[in-house]
Amino acid sequence: MLVEKNIALIGFMAAGKTHVGRRLGERTGMPFVDIDLLIVELEQRSVEDIFREKGEPYFRGLESRLLGELCRGQSQIIGCGGGTILADENRRVLRQHCDTVWLRVSEAQVLRRLEDPGAPRRPLLEGLDASRVVHELLTAREPYYAQADHVVETDGRTVESVAEEIVVRLGLAAVDR
Ligand code: S3P
Repeated sequence: MLVEKNIALIGFMAAGKTHVGRRLGERTGMPFVDIDLLIVELEQRSVEDIFREKGEPYFRGLESRLLGELCRGQSQIIGCGGGTILADENRRVLRQHCDTVWLRVSEAQVLRRLEDPGAPRRPLLEGLDASRVVHELLTAREPYYAQADHVVETDGRTVESVAEEIVVRLGLAAVDR
């Protein structure tokens, strides 16, 4: 099947958007692009440093610009940042150009995954009480994530099984890689 629309993976920090997106790219042969990684490449510094040195509005501006640019293309898997869905314009672009998949993760699972020493640092949690902030952000954002075309649960599941569910749910052609 020829997929023309993009597939956008949305969801909270540590939902697995980057890992699942990469695996989905391998399974389907579709190119995978990750907005956070593109920003890091463009700015030659970490997301944490961008937040600290240039501020969140600067980061959000880049995020929106890259989403808009990516959405001029088609048949790609786009890994969004956890906050990409916050701007009205981003949600409009996502609705128009992408099949959106919400990788849903529980608060408890987010906190567990963030404790992983290999997890990237999340500037929105830096120096704060992670459980309080995760609770507040997740509660505020869930109504936006819930506007997705598809919802896939990730708690207690492997990257492989989540990617496979997306292949099946969206009727994607899997190239075995
Ligand atoms: C953010 C999530 C991060 C990154 C930035 C802001 C957010 O991406 O875009 O730190 O607002 O939730 P991940 O969802 O990949 O952690």
